[in-house]
Amino acid sequence: MELEGKIALVTGAGGGIGQAVTEKLAAGGALIALADMSHDLAAELAQRIEGAGGCAVALAGNLTDAAYCDGLVGETVSALGGLDILVNNAGLMRRGAVTEASDEDFALSMAVNVEAPFRLARAAIPVMAERGGGAIVNTASCWGVYPGPNHLVYCTSKAAIAAMTRCLGRDHAHQNIRVNAVCPNEVNTPMLRTGFAIRGLDPDSAVAELNATVPLGRIAEPQDIADVVVFLASDQARYMCGALVEVNGGKPVF
Ligand SMILES: NC(=O)c1ccc[n+]([C@@H]2O[C@H](COP(=O)([O-])OP(=O)(O)OC[C@H]3O[C@@H](n4cnc5c(N)ncnc54)[C@H](O)[C@@H]3O)[C@@H](O)[C@H]2O)c1
Repeated sequence: MELEGKIALVTGAGGGIGQAVTEKLAAGGALIALADMSHDLAAELAQRIEGAGGCAVALAGNLTDAAYCDGLVGETVSALGGLDILVNNAGLMRRGAVTEASDEDFALSMAVNVEAPFRLARAAIPVMAERGGGAIVNTASCWGVYPGPNHLVYCTSKAAIAAMTRCLGRDHAHQNIRVNAVCPNEVNTPMLRTGFAIRGLDPDSAVAELNATVPLGRIAEPQDIADVVVFLASDQARYMCGALVEVNGGKPVF
């Protein structure tokens, strides 16, 4: 994948998909800045990567803090010497129809799922342009392309990041900066499992039921998504700009 020596910043690095992405990038020889709200998760992951002979630095903080978010690219450059790959992966899901959604549901979802990628792309693009190019991979969702039921705020935020991906892909291709998004359907991560637990369901049985609804026979594991994210971040995807890549095991949103 030609990742050796590339410098990457991954948000939500401590989450289900985030850990799979960072471990794959690290295995390919990339140097990684790990951004996550959880200081413990970011530090543990950095230790694990360093222990395996890789190079990682934990830059923990809350992406709703504009100063932290605006400073992350600069911190990455200071710690690792540049930036070639930005993976906007952090996200959260608030459930319910519009009549059940609070101001806080809307503000927080837009802050993490949309505003943070906006701030990070704005900071990253000049750095990448000066280095002759780079790649940004956003984590959108199938539910941002086709709205799933009763997730108004989440679907709206993921539609926004999908639109942002297309705009950025178009506007910055001339600087050799490729911007694409992965759009998963259901993935077996803490986000999905805690959602079942909140609704009083046993996550293992709920996942087993969900597996039966997917034509490939199972929902995605984080590695299924990470493989596509890392592909989009690599030179293997050198002619892809502004693409929304659905990774759904054959299951449409309905
Ligand atoms: N799991 C799914 O079914 C699924 C499907 C489609 C898209 N996605 C998207 O994939 C991405 C990763 O999700 P996941 O399933 O791995 O979830 P996850 O909950 O395991 O990980 C999300 C990570 O984002 C971090 N994060 C959340 N809010 C933050 C904040 N304010 N500041 C800093 N970090 C913050 C969390 O600490 C966590 O580590 C998200 O953008 C999500 O919307 C997930």
